[in-house]
Amino acid sequence: MRLREKRACAYANMMRAMAEQREAKTRILGIESSCDETAAAIVANGVKILSSVVASQVDIHRKYGGVVPELASREHLRQIVPVVREAVAQAGLTLGDVDAIGVTQGPGLVGALLVGLTYGKVLALSLGKPLIAVNHLEGHVHAVLLEAHAAGRAPKLPAMCLIVSGGHTLLYRVETRASAAENGARQFVYERIGGTRDDAAGEAYDKVAKMLALGYPGGPIIDKLAAHGNALAVRFGATKVRGNPYDFSYSGIKTAVLYYLRKRPEFQPEIDARQQALARGERSADALRALSGQATLDLIASFQHAVVEDLVGRTLTAAEQFAVESVLVSGGVAANRQLRVRFEEESQKRGMEVFFPSRALSTDNAAMIAAAAYPKFAAGERADASLNAQPNFPLGFSTHAKPAAQ
Ligand code: KG4
Ligand code: ZN
Repeated sequence: MRLREKRACAYANMMRAMAEQREAKTRILGIESSCDETAAAIVANGVKILSSVVASQVDIHRKYGGVVPELASREHLRQIVPVVREAVAQAGLTLGDVDAIGVTQGPGLVGALLVGLTYGKVLALSLGKPLIAVNHLEGHVHAVLLEAHAAGRAPKLPAMCLIVSGGHTLLYRVETRASAAENGARQFVYERIGGTRDDAAGEAYDKVAKMLALGYPGGPIIDKLAAHGNALAVRFGATKVRGNPYDFSYSGIKTAVLYYLRKRPEFQPEIDARQQALARGERSADALRALSGQATLDLIASFQHAVVEDLVGRTLTAAEQFAVESVLVSGGVAANRQLRVRFEEESQKRGMEVFFPSRALSTDNAAMIAAAAYPKFAAGERADASLNAQPNFPLGFSTHAKPAAQ
């Protein structure tokens, strides 16, 4: 049997074993507080969402055009208890019915992380339940796997996973291997293939939206307005990244938009008008589109085109070079419609299957944390009372992106 088939077979066996255990439900309470969403969820056997509650702070941070760490910590403190309570109630359970607690350890804002992590720790100690530490990035990978399994179409591994959000643009090769546990549980292995050298893609969306007075967060509005512009109207040069061909860079495109606007004062009256509309609370895509001329819509579409083509191109080249079986795309920017269309088109041409989470699981949530905790729980991984937040928590290992021998 070829190595690839063996891996696919081991993975299928793991999923079958997981399915067989389904009757003996393992319910994990996931807690997430790494950035500006306080979230709690209960997931059974890593695949069935019993509840998922997300309290977004976007309205608090909007007027600053980005997340303010101190405000985020304060809001997490206010929300954590009601959010967890709500998740337990929506699942029709009590805290005593939960088998384990999975918490985000990092990466993220330290003050924000500490709120969820400390609460999870206290709950685990007081209830006498196991505590499992989860890397937030691993959560994004499991957001895709969770829904794909629930729909009965498990992605074949190894997979290339693009995590693309406001804080991250990362490429991981994902597979499983036997864990040390005697029960045959498998564990996930992540190899970092590349990442952004400067801005994350979502950050570039947010900053360009700020320049154009399109509100915060910028991604969803740019997504909607770009559909009305000509994506080939403004040519942004391809981003050049020396060294690792799977690294990303988006500050160049963002700066190109800035200079484009600086050289064209005719955009300013429209920007001022949208700024005033935002100040009046008129921030719907329709309201902002009505205040945007064709040149603005073309600029927005061209910016999005440059980012999307770069993301799709680098990810699929990496997928081919590292001989993976499928492609996973996760994180806030994975909600982008053009990104989904282009990934579908290009992966089909290459005979690869691409998987996305639903929009609700694309952005930060706790169902993905509970799902990522499940294989760790099965493999006997436990955190102890010394668990601490890790704001720069790296995921997996890096081999300097050497493609696999074909
Ligand atoms: O994953 P997420 O909720 O939080 C982070 O970990 O950053 O992602 C939020 C990011 C923001 O930058 C937002 O502008 C972007 O995802 N985003 C989008 C879309 N929806 C959210 N970007 C492009 N198109 C979208 N539809
Ligand atoms: Zn995230």
